[in-house]
Amino acid sequence: MAPIQEGQYMIQTNSQSSARLNLQHYWVEETLGYLLHPLIAVPEDARIADIATGTGIWPISLSRRVPSTVQIDGFDITDDQFPPSDWLPPNVSLRILDILKRVPEELKGQYDVVCIRYFGVLIRNNDPEFVLRNLVDMLKPGGYIQWVESDVYNQSVVKSVYSTLLSPTALERYLEVWRRYLDSSGLLYEWLKTLPALCKAIGMSDAQLFTPESVPALRLTATAAVLGAWEELSYKILDGSPDEILGSGTQLREKLAAFWREVAAGAALDLQFYVTVARK
Ligand SMILES: C[S@@+](CC[C@H](N)C(=O)[O-])C[C@H]1O[C@@H](n2cnc3c(N)ncnc32)[C@H](O)[C@@H]1O
Repeated sequence: MAPIQEGQYMIQTNSQSSARLNLQHYWVEETLGYLLHPLIAVPEDARIADIATGTGIWPISLSRRVPSTVQIDGFDITDDQFPPSDWLPPNVSLRILDILKRVPEELKGQYDVVCIRYFGVLIRNNDPEFVLRNLVDMLKPGGYIQWVESDVYNQSVVKSVYSTLLSPTALERYLEVWRRYLDSSGLLYEWLKTLPALCKAIGMSDAQLFTPESVPALRLTATAAVLGAWEELSYKILDGSPDEILGSGTQLREKLAAFWREVAAGAALDLQFYVTVARK
């Protein structure tokens, strides 16, 4: 049996997780330089959806950059991380939706833009088609999807020129273990490169892949996000059921303490972003 079950979200949805998601938001926005790719036109009366919105940080942030007449709806399987609705901008709503099930009829054909970000931990066996078709169903004809991910499978360790750490570092060795763990759950991430081809295959046009350079000054931010997610995984999954590959929650947390010492000594994680934009 795979360590992570199909449809199971391996990370927590508590306040620590919210802080990490908002940190990730800063990291991705600074790296990409946009919330919505410049190719995506936003009419004054646009309706925009954000799937698996987490804390709602993307809709909230976007609402401050588009006319107040643009309606932005965030959706997530849980409202654990939503701010109270009376604190949201008037043109932002946050609602419950399971995107691994068929979208309800009332959401079909409603949106000019549908975005999804950091959903890779729920895509199995390089097959995002079910989710993609759901996103496309929500679009009006001519609407755009934007799908943003960082490649947590192929992340690598980089060292500052001032670092005296010897290779392989504990973090480098652990990335091999991490990849075996993702393999064992079918969390493969090759689909990030083939998503535009899939968009074309299901009849979308103008499908493009963008791979922005990572920003060296943001490597510590990226590292904090990844190590934070691993810590949440240690509590959420491994404490209850230790895993053959990753071990127990306590073991992973001990390793994390060693990784943080390496980070203080000049090591960091480097991840590639993938942005797919396509039109219905
Ligand atoms: C890594 S977070 C991404 C949050 C947000 N997109 C961002 O970029 O800040 C993944 C989110 O997916 C949500 N999620 C997990 N399974 C889901 C499902 N089946 N349908 C919708 N959302 C889901 C989780 O609750 C979590 O908020």
